[in-house]
Amino acid sequence: MNSTQPAWDRDTVLGIIDALKHKPGALMPILHGIQDSIGYVPPDSVPLMAEALNLSRAEVHGTITFYHHFRTTPPGRHKLEICRAEACQAMGANRLVAHARKTLGVDFHETTADGAISLEAVYCLGNCACSPAVMVDGELLGSVSQESFDELVGTLRSQP
Ligand code: FES
Repeated sequence: MNSTQPAWDRDTVLGIIDALKHKPGALMPILHGIQDSIGYVPPDSVPLMAEALNLSRAEVHGTITFYHHFRTTPPGRHKLEICRAEACQAMGANRLVAHARKTLGVDFHETTADGAISLEAVYCLGNCACSPAVMVDGELLGSVSQESFDELVGTLRSQP
């Protein structure tokens, strides 16, 4: 995981909270707004949300950790999703996942130490006929082998 946490803009977060705090069930829109804006939900933003919404910090933290969509660390430059659903598993996705974890040195929902790649799990990309399937920065790839995965990783690491 990337241990260096870039500074986040407190005013941006406060602006999002202010704009959405009067909505019913405001916490979810605020969490989405923060993550859409800065790429993750900084742990230090939890007290700001708790105070604005009159919730406990534990309630806000619990919501963030309940929904796997939300991340509390900055994303990598590239998002690499591996399908873990049935058809892909039948075609070797579990071996590909083990390979990815080992070669990248991260687990799902983590980012490589160089900040290049965030590894994510996904459950069916609608590409079952070309399993195992992978999505990279929104681009769908099929029949991904360990060799083609390694090539892909090399390409991603070399890109900004
Ligand atoms: S199960 Fe992987 S794309 Fe459908």
